[in-house]
Order: sequence, then structure tokens, then C-alpha cells
Amino acid sequence: MHILLAITGDPKAQRWIDAMQAALPDARFSVWDAAGPALDADYAVVWHPPAALFTRETGLRAVFNIGAGVDGLLSVPTLPAELPVIRLEDAGMSVQMAEYTLHALWEGARDFAAYRGLQASGEWKVLPVPRRDQWTVGVLGLGQVGRKVAEAVAGFGYPTAGWSRTPREIPDIETFSGQDGLPAFLARTKVLVNVLPLTPDTRDVLNASLFAQLPKGAHLINVGRGEHLVDDDLLAALDSGQLARATLDVFRTEPLPKDHAFWRHPAITVTPHTAARTLRAESVAQIVGKIRRLQAGESVGGQVERGRGY
Ligand SMILES: NC(=O)c1ccc[n+]([C@@H]2O[C@H](COP(=O)([O-])OP(=O)(O)OC[C@H]3O[C@@H](n4cnc5c(N)ncnc54)[C@H](OP(=O)(O)O)[C@@H]3O)[C@@H](O)[C@H]2O)c1
Repeated sequence: MHILLAITGDPKAQRWIDAMQAALPDARFSVWDAAGPALDADYAVVWHPPAALFTRETGLRAVFNIGAGVDGLLSVPTLPAELPVIRLEDAGMSVQMAEYTLHALWEGARDFAAYRGLQASGEWKVLPVPRRDQWTVGVLGLGQVGRKVAEAVAGFGYPTAGWSRTPREIPDIETFSGQDGLPAFLARTKVLVNVLPLTPDTRDVLNASLFAQLPKGAHLINVGRGEHLVDDDLLAALDSGQLARATLDVFRTEPLPKDHAFWRHPAITVTPHTAARTLRAESVAQIVGKIRRLQAGESVGGQVERGRGY
């Protein structure tokens, strides 16, 4: 068995090989070399791979994406339509996303942002007791990551709802689905958390029309993808007071260009696509387990439905 790694942006691909080799001692491993020959690899483990990989390696049985979102991989024009695409399922990311969301939620719900402002002016002032029941949280996307985020938030007693494509039932979470369910979901949501995958249906979903359906003064936490958000619509919604705060982890162009308005906006917090990092040990364990099952002719979870884009 030959496994090819093409992890764009990671200069230490050898660490992935070392970890996988320990679990699959009989397998051969190679790192993608644009100038190299065809290897007749069986599996590819990738992040934003070059288009040439799929024209040169025509015997692949599956491609593993070392992230939850497959938008980058599915946009590679040479990706064969029938090649199974397998993404990471949680692999330690959901709990990180829950931490990130709670931190951003508490900026408003526990007044941390306001107290920073008071500290800056040397003011000792106790703000009114926060009302948890008024901090209604709505999570767009109830998959591996969104469900965990919603459950974590609900666990702290915030009234929590979630929105998905198909109906879902989750204890302690009010659930909504489909375009028909979106207006009622938005109308009850003060803090909107986006954990959707990027697909043709979800691109630009965070736009002026959606913001207008949230209660005035709502907060946005975007940890999905930059292309979900219409940047100018967010700036306009913050300027008008329709939105009060935004915490953004993902951007249309990454790294976020130095002259982008988001960097210096007083109501925006920017983090560099770090809400939920890919953890190598967890990811390798999951991928190796799936390779073993595929080799045994068994089915595996996390297979992307190409038609729906996630
Ligand atoms: N910022 C970061 O560091 C980071 C890290 C990890 C992941 N992410 C992002 O998080 C995304 C979600 O990951 P995941 O593992 O939770 O994905 P997932 O398990 O595939 O879940 C996707 C969820 O979105 C819902 N959905 C998809 N299309 C929809 C639509 N058109 N309308 C309404 N709901 C829709 C799905 O509905 P159904 O339940 O009906 O299928 C499902 O609940 C990734 O794609 C990635 O973009 C970001």
C-alpha cells in the first residue's frame, strides 16, 4: 500500500508520515513532488492539493482531507467525480470550537469587552447582573462541530437553537431546518454562530438580509468560512447598530490583507483561522483507522456527498 501526502502550507509533512508509518509499518509513504514521477499511490492525504496530483495519480482509492471543510479540495478542477473524498470527523476540533464560541459569547454575555473599556479609562464600575435568558444563541450548522458547540452553550444555560438542512432533534436545543425554518431561528437569536460548510447553497449566507432578521444589537461569530460572509454587509450592519459585535476567525482572503477594514474596527475581533486546529495525533488515528477499514472492504464515515458539497 502506497500513501501520498500533499499538505500545502505544512513544511513538516514528514511528521505526518512518521505518525502514520508507526501505525501502518508495512505501508510506503511519499511526499508530493511536483517534479517527480507517478507513484501509483493507493491513498492521498491532502490539504489544498495541487491539481496535478489527480492527473498523475490515477489509481487512488480514496483521498483524505485533513480538515472538516472540503470546500478547498472540491474546488480542485481535476478531482475525479467518482473518487471517494473523506474528511475529518471532529478529530478534536469540536471541543476547540466550543471553547472559541464560549469565549466570544462571554465578551458580550459576561461584559468582558465592556470591562476592558472601563479598565482602559481607569473606571471601577459594576455593570448590571447579566441576564443569561436574554443571551439567546443560534448555531448555523448542526454537524460534528455545530452540535458540540450548541450543546456546550446550552450546558451553560443559554437558550440555544440550531439550524440545519434536514430536521435534527437534540436534547435541550431548539432546532430549525431549511429555508422555511430560517426566519424564526434568526428572530430568536441574539448571538449567531456560523459553523456551516461552504457549499453553493451557503456561500454569502451572512448578508444584509439575514442580519436584518436578527434582533437589533445582535452579535456574530463566524467560524465557518470567509466566503459565508459578505464583508461590506457586516460593516454596514455594525455601523447602523443592527449588529453590535463580530468575532471572525475565517476570511475571504487568508491571510486577511493588512489594509482590510476588519483589522481596525472597534467592534470586530479577528483571529487567524485558528478556532479549531487540526490535531495530528487524533487525525492520524482517525485516517489510519479508516484506511484499515477500506482495505478490509468496509465502509467508513465522513465520506463527502459530492452532490451536496459537504
Ligand atoms: N475555523 C476553523 O478553524 C474550522 C475548523 C473546523 C471546521 N470549520 C468549518 O466548520 C464546517 C462544519 O464542519 P462539520 O464537521 O460540523 O460539518 P458537518 O458535520 O458536515 O455538518 C454540517 C452541518 O451544516 C448543515 N448544512 C449544510 N448545508 C446546509 C444548508 N444549505 N442549510 C442548512 N444547513 C446546512 C448540515 O445539515 P444536515 O445536518 O441536515 O446535514 C449539518 O448540520 C466545516 O465545513 C468548516 O467550514 C472551521
